[in-house]
Amino acid sequence: MITKCLFPVAGYGTRFLPATKSMPKEMLPVVNKPLVQYGVEEAIEAGMTTCAMVTGRGKRTITDHFDISYELEHQISGSGKEAYLASIRDVLDKGVFTTVRQREMKGLGHAVLTGRPLIGNEPFGVLLSDDLCINNGPGVLAQMAELYRQFRCSIVAIQEVPEDETHKYGVIRGESLKSGIYRVDEMVEKPDPADAPSNLAIIGRYILTPDIFDILQDTSPGANGEIQITDALQTQAAQGCVMAYKFKGRRFDCGSVPGFVEATNFVYENYYLQD
Ligand code: UTP
Repeated sequence: MITKCLFPVAGYGTRFLPATKSMPKEMLPVVNKPLVQYGVEEAIEAGMTTCAMVTGRGKRTITDHFDISYELEHQISGSGKEAYLASIRDVLDKGVFTTVRQREMKGLGHAVLTGRPLIGNEPFGVLLSDDLCINNGPGVLAQMAELYRQFRCSIVAIQEVPEDETHKYGVIRGESLKSGIYRVDEMVEKPDPADAPSNLAIIGRYILTPDIFDILQDTSPGANGEIQITDALQTQAAQGCVMAYKFKGRRFDCGSVPGFVEATNFVYENYYLQD
């Protein structure tokens, strides 16, 4: 049973400037809920009730969001407005929130390594909240946790992307084991379409085995001087122990403005209006 999920939320979110100058990207609301809360709900649904946040400077509103807002709650206590707090109160009832600060933003791999003291020596989920995933059945992390029980390996979530977009993602080459499940042989970070081994791109959901921490410790900075999680996963893949899983559901790239607008319209039309 995987009980912990790491949330790297320390990045600068430059693609959303100026909105993200003093506000974390992860707090941008899709309709009426911040991106990070969608992620936490997905993790809790998967049984990962310890949500370990790797935060940074200027990110305090994230930790405040997962706490009581005493004055506000006192003010609206007993009124109909309390109903608006139902989803976050539910999350607070079920989840435990721990934090560590990443002092220098040296990439996703570095953020994961920074989270090591919050995870310890057990397999864990990683969720990037700017990838919003929506499924009518079990969420993506729940699907991956189920798969972990079978394979006991690191797992990356993948989706097919248009060939001219491979340069935005980590891309895999792998052997298809059964429908939607691959054993990964190779991973390339942000390849040009001509060099991409496939159009199967890694999105922001991972299950990682804890040996990843020692590997990350020995991983030198790659593209952009950042420590890439893909490079560390490549070492695990060479040992035959990384699976890729084509998840069920829709994913919105909320780290980009078009993806964020698309997600907003989708959630508004399919969930908010039907409430
Ligand atoms: P992104 O690649 O989307 O980077 O990181 P970013 O800095 O947030 O956004 P842009 O590209 O400048 O617009 C993916 C996830 O990893 C986290 C981010 O917060 C985001 O959730 N991250 C990234 C860290 O926590 N630390 C880092 O050093 C880098």
